[in-house]
Amino acid sequence: MRAKINLYELAEQCLYSPAIEDKLAITDHAAQSLAHRSFAFDFIRPPRPATDVRFPKHPRQVEPRDLPRRGLNTEAGKIAFLHALAHIEFNAIHLAWDMAYRFRGMPESFYYDWLQVAIEEAAHFRALSGRLRDFGADYGHLPVHRGLWELAEHTAGDVLHRLALVPRFMEAWGLDVTPGMIAKLEQLGDTASVEILRMILREEIGHVAFGTRWFHYVCERRGLDPEDEYFALVRRYIRGPVRGPFNEEARRRAGFSGEEMERLGRLDGTEPDGGA
Ligand SMILES: [Fe+2]
Repeated sequence: MRAKINLYELAEQCLYSPAIEDKLAITDHAAQSLAHRSFAFDFIRPPRPATDVRFPKHPRQVEPRDLPRRGLNTEAGKIAFLHALAHIEFNAIHLAWDMAYRFRGMPESFYYDWLQVAIEEAAHFRALSGRLRDFGADYGHLPVHRGLWELAEHTAGDVLHRLALVPRFMEAWGLDVTPGMIAKLEQLGDTASVEILRMILREEIGHVAFGTRWFHYVCERRGLDPEDEYFALVRRYIRGPVRGPFNEEARRRAGFSGEEMERLGRLDGTEPDGGA
């Protein structure tokens, strides 16, 4: 019989080790165990603070205004773009692990869903890092946006807030912008990068759908209306207008209702309460 691995301990090791290779090796280890569902869920100790999650020294995290801006038409621009995407996926590995780590007392399938997300995010990260190496670059060579982890820190106190803001807001926004990136890379004839982005878009729909599934689950248990609750939480954490165009088809597949799509369209700042 296989020895059971404590899921929270494995998650803690991944989140609180600084080395990229360790984080990826732990995620690979989880993939093997996930196939056999050989996890234990005993509470060993309470979760450590989200603000202490460790990121490697490289890439250097800087303010967004200090990131170089380049078009996609030059090789340096393409490398900067792929590097920024690789950083989003690297951060996403942490977001998925942190969902499984921090929020205790959910059904076992909740943890398996987010482990699967962590494994897929690691594959996205590896695909983009590999593409960077095709251009003689690598992840870590350029500075990256400092703020990506902030929403995880702000929503660490409540699984409902995390589900609304991370998979159902931030990652759903990824569904909106990825088709435009794919079109641009297609124009440039970069089919290898296009293939990676298509795979990412396909799998991200599933990640947002997990967000919807578990958001609804928690709303039901708390007797909350999921649509009203979603917009109240978006308004609470996201300042300023939320603008489309929204990827209607992908969002609908990820569980956004017709009413949610319509109310999203009203978040562009013309109606301050988003129509709630
Ligand atoms: Fe991803």
